[in-house]
Amino acid sequence: MHENTQKITDIILKAAEKARRETRDEDQKLRAGKSIDWPIECTIGPGLEGAIACDSKVGYVDGSKGWLVYRGYDIFDLCAYSSYEEVSYLLLHGSLPTPDQLEAFNKKLVEYRYLNKTLRLLMGFPVEEMNAMGALRMGTILMRQEFTYRDQEAGRPAIGDAISADEDSIPMETAPTGEAKAIYEFNAAKKARKRKKMLGDASGLEACYHLLAGVPTITAAISRVRQGHMAIEPDPQLSHAANFLYMMTGKRPTPVQERIMDIALILHADHGMNASTFASMVVASTLSDIYFSVGSGIAALSGPLHGGANEQVLHTLKEIGSPDQVADWVQTASKKKKKVPGFGHRVYKAYDPRARVLGPLAGYRMRYCPEDIVKLYKTAKELERQVFRTFGHEKKIFPNVDFYSGIVYSRMGIDPSMFTPIFAVSRVAGWTARVLEYLQKNRIFRPRAMYSGEFEREYVPLEQR
Ligand code: CMC
Repeated sequence: MHENTQKITDIILKAAEKARRETRDEDQKLRAGKSIDWPIECTIGPGLEGAIACDSKVGYVDGSKGWLVYRGYDIFDLCAYSSYEEVSYLLLHGSLPTPDQLEAFNKKLVEYRYLNKTLRLLMGFPVEEMNAMGALRMGTILMRQEFTYRDQEAGRPAIGDAISADEDSIPMETAPTGEAKAIYEFNAAKKARKRKKMLGDASGLEACYHLLAGVPTITAAISRVRQGHMAIEPDPQLSHAANFLYMMTGKRPTPVQERIMDIALILHADHGMNASTFASMVVASTLSDIYFSVGSGIAALSGPLHGGANEQVLHTLKEIGSPDQVADWVQTASKKKKKVPGFGHRVYKAYDPRARVLGPLAGYRMRYCPEDIVKLYKTAKELERQVFRTFGHEKKIFPNVDFYSGIVYSRMGIDPSMFTPIFAVSRVAGWTARVLEYLQKNRIFRPRAMYSGEFEREYVPLEQR
């Protein structure tokens, strides 16, 4: 292991040790949960707070302690010892891969990085002017076009088959007869079978692999075009994180950059029934397909209360300007009851474990950073201190995953408009894993609304209103 990547592991282990010291609960023994006996009773608040929509073995969040677990593994262990490829395999398949399984999985991900048709179609749109999440969402729909049987050319009869089925339509000079005809028919059928095999089912595991590998390619292409450059071919020699960074920036990342991006992807991969996961699951529950499902996850993630917060954080830090402006800014925000981006969480009422890792990574070797990044980081540290002092303690508001991720990405030269798409690159693992799991015992989502409107209103004709 590269000397500096070992230092990154040490940072994670230190954060893990601190988290475990502060959040360990001797009384609470974590045991595997039981399946739910439906129907169940639970108290539900607005925004479905407290509602239980399904049972799941994919991941666990304890918001009061600040614990995050994927398939039984502590997030700190996964960050310290694993890779995004292993973690996405784990989320989808339920167990960590063996070396052979990982090799086969990696091979598929590398193969599926290439999205020639999707990118060609996407570049027909004004991607450089579009909202990056909007373009990403469209890209996933174009992937559906490329990879599913539903709308594809192979859904139509191949010309060769049509000719061979109709002797009269075969021009004399190409007409196969006798044995030649038999071989011709045989080859045509073989070709048609091969073509159909290449086209995947839109809701199975293979579609999940395509999306895991394809969403980074689309994100990177969008990023390049927005900077006025051409999209870059994937590099099959590079890991998932390194290839993604390479395709975004045009430079092969250093081992430290690769490791930090890998950790950022691990940290964002899954997080319970958050809004975008739920959105994906709702769409999948109608037996629509996984491309549409991931497209709606992307749409839900884009909002500033969800994944869009990471971009807002950076704008806020720039707006504040410097650490000495923070106190005034927080006072004004507090008076106006303004929500500070990157703080608070529906579930966490303790320090978000993901921020425990990203915070020190944002500050790693800060002395080598350009002045503007140092200022951003110092402003962020001061903002964390002031928010906690002003209302964080009382309302249990801590930095969330989005607070430090923007600084981490800025240090890699990534534009803020791409922060939320990077979140999506990672979260595809959680979306697809949970959708696949839910589809095993699918039931269409259909909650109710409590009607609080009027009844028996008298209809007034248009001209009398
Ligand atoms: N800044 C200031 N006050 C806050 C904040 C914040 N960021 N977040 C919550 N509060 C206050 C809120 O005003 C309310 O106070 P009061 O009880 O006096 O009315 C109290 O804390 C409870 O907040 P809430 O709005 O009821 O919490 P919620 O569960 O509805 O919303 C949230 C959760 C994440 C939408 C919210 O904390 C927020 O808007 N945060 C800023 C945006 C953000 O960083 N989002 C990323 C979330 S983490 C990544 C992800 O999952 O996408």
